[in-house]
Amino acid sequence: MKSLMIQGAKILSTGSAIPSSSFSNNEISKFVDTSDEWIVTRTGIKERRLLQGIDKSIIDLAVLASKKALDKISMDPSQIDLIILATSSPHDLFGSASKVQYQIGALNAVAFDLTAACSGFVLSLVTAFQFLQTGAYSNVLVVGADVLSKWVDWSDRSTCILFGDAAGAAILQSCSSIDNSILNFQLNTDGNYSKHLSIAYQHNITPHSNLNLYQGSFKYISMNGKEVYKFAVFQVPLSILKCLNSVNMSVEEVDWLVLHQANERILTAIAEKLSISSNKIISNLRKYGNTSAASIPLALDEAIQEDKISHNDIVIIAGFGAGLTWGTIIVRW
Ligand code: COA
Repeated sequence: MKSLMIQGAKILSTGSAIPSSSFSNNEISKFVDTSDEWIVTRTGIKERRLLQGIDKSIIDLAVLASKKALDKISMDPSQIDLIILATSSPHDLFGSASKVQYQIGALNAVAFDLTAACSGFVLSLVTAFQFLQTGAYSNVLVVGADVLSKWVDWSDRSTCILFGDAAGAAILQSCSSIDNSILNFQLNTDGNYSKHLSIAYQHNITPHSNLNLYQGSFKYISMNGKEVYKFAVFQVPLSILKCLNSVNMSVEEVDWLVLHQANERILTAIAEKLSISSNKIISNLRKYGNTSAASIPLALDEAIQEDKISHNDIVIIAGFGAGLTWGTIIVRW
């Protein structure tokens, strides 16, 4: 992170929302050839929440998570200057953030979507930080929300067991640079490996007869699990170390590791590579599976509610996923 910091930023509040319907591994095993034992051993996931109902979308979850974050600090939504909605499962390809803006009553806020799959919350937090650092805005709402259940092939046992639906929100506020709590960030992308995890566009075989235009739709999630696993376990520790080193911090100073909740084995392997005790890993994927852009804010919100993270703790937030994209943020809570 190279910065000409005018202002600092701090995270004032968090909120989260999950669908009410929970589905266990045993229920999934009724329609694909899998078992609770296989899923728990390979991923650590026991159950996931899925958004049911024809008229339900990420907007419902994003609105609920945002309202909870606002209520916690009794902030009037009109004080929000900017909303960034991290999602890869929007309700509208033109964007869903404006609907969140309207539904929470943040009528002074500009709002846009940011698409970066499971790294979406990290990239959105860093984007929000830029607007706060320059003094352009005072209050920013960052929401991570995904309903990948709409994009999973429910007959593909290698992917359908992994994902769940949720939303998480964080409200950031500008502050003096002395009080800044976003200590550093480190971001990466390698498009060469995008084929390993995608929801690709697929066009029709025959073009529109007069215009030679191909139209189509999106496919289901396709994933090379082994490659994604290797990538995460190799690249994420390097990103965390680079991020710490460039501000002369050591892994010993880290109090909490809030990683994208993809797979328990990935979380443990990353912590082991960094020699960080497993007690410092925040993990909730047993209950929710991989909720994509929502996973980090959902885990943060739960950890705060459970009084795990305290004032002044050093929290490493690291996301990784399709793109491939990955990155780290160091926060002094
Ligand atoms: N239930 C039972 N068996 C399954 C299964 C399931 N749900 N999914 C796959 N299998 C089978 C495979 O068909 C394969 O069988 P075979 O040996 O007869 O061919 C066997 O289990 C091993 O499959 P493999 O893909 O090698 O398993 P794995 O140990 O790599 O675990 C993942 C699979 C998906 C759990 C693991 O690769 C992973 O977590 N990768 C990262 C995925 C991820 O986090 N993605 C999101 C990143 S943001």
